[in-house]
Amino acid sequence: MTNHRIALIPGDGIGAEVLPPAQQVLDAIGRRHGFGFTYTTYDWSCERYLRDGAMMPEDGLDQLRDKEAILLGAVGYPGVPDHVSLWGLLIPIRRGFRQYVNLRPIRVFEGIDSPVRGAVAGEVDFVVVRENVEGEYSEIGGRLNRGFPEEMAVQEAVFTRAGVTRVLDYAFDLSARRGGKVTSATKSNGIVHTMPFWDELVAERAAAHPTVTWDQEHIDALAAKFVLDPARFDVVVGSNLFGDILSDLAAAVAGSIGIAPAANLNPEREFPSMFEPVHGSAPDIAGRGIANPLGAVWSAAMMLDHLGHPEAGKDVTDAIAAVLAKTDVRTPDLGGTASTAEFTEKLLELL
Ligand code: NAI
Ligand code: MG
Repeated sequence: MTNHRIALIPGDGIGAEVLPPAQQVLDAIGRRHGFGFTYTTYDWSCERYLRDGAMMPEDGLDQLRDKEAILLGAVGYPGVPDHVSLWGLLIPIRRGFRQYVNLRPIRVFEGIDSPVRGAVAGEVDFVVVRENVEGEYSEIGGRLNRGFPEEMAVQEAVFTRAGVTRVLDYAFDLSARRGGKVTSATKSNGIVHTMPFWDELVAERAAAHPTVTWDQEHIDALAAKFVLDPARFDVVVGSNLFGDILSDLAAAVAGSIGIAPAANLNPEREFPSMFEPVHGSAPDIAGRGIANPLGAVWSAAMMLDHLGHPEAGKDVTDAIAAVLAKTDVRTPDLGGTASTAEFTEKLLELL
């Protein structure tokens, strides 16, 4: 029997409450399809930072290197600045393992009330492909004259031909498999160097994928269309910053941040890829056992796809759809009264 080597990083707050449900689902689906998992759990978190002065040990990436995938809960803890948790753990893993694609599927499920009137179940089903290792989130820049009237900050966005090309190719290939269309997020009217370069590369990669239709929209207009007409999208590709904002907006359109999953992919499989719910550590509800586990469970389903078990992944997303459509068991974020454990139990029953 295949035993997949999985690194578990629960992190902080509800991160540690949503990973056990994901693990239960993985073990159940593995039993049915004839494979298993060997988990190694790491206590890397903001709590570790407060104790030891670092989110993860210096050889952290080396400890993960031989794993086939990483499942992460969430990091973030009151009193630890968010840039510490991001740059101390998530970004080193994304960059060190060349996880240059951040993939975020968006679906409106039957049984979920979207805050958007036009977001109808079954019609809204698209994917945001976010560039995940360069772009606007760069370390290049600095601050001068701190505390004086002429204080200033400069931050450089970095767009490389290789980096943009590979993420665009991923988006076009994905769209070819889905039989849909690519929409590129741009802002080449206002950002006059990097964004025209992005647009040129989009046109170039589109020409290399002649079967895929595509268009481009300025990010401001695109944000409005996500709300006004979310059913029109199939694959949306954007830079690190644009993709980050669009995918949270899309998760809200779909009805709850607690359901949205994400994959940080190294498509060449030179390194482990990382799967994590979109939501954070939710300190406001942490410790109460009421976190919605579906974002973590759906992330685990994406991991199953990546590990070469798409049928098992589909069983899991089907069970998520069924628990929402056919039962009224829900956690409080979805208007219910169930605990994380009760919701997970119902899900396992339907699985
Ligand atoms: P958040 O996603 O933690 O919470 C936003 C709101 O959504 C809260 O009201 C929370 O209770 C609710 N919520 C989120 N996930 C939920 C779930 N699974 N079930 C039920 N309700 C849920 O975002 P926030 O408050 O901006 O950030 C809190 C901390 O998490 C910060 O330290 C932040 O840096 C960190 N964070 C970490 C991320 C990561 O590890 N990838 C991503 C986003 C935030
Ligand atoms: Mg975000």
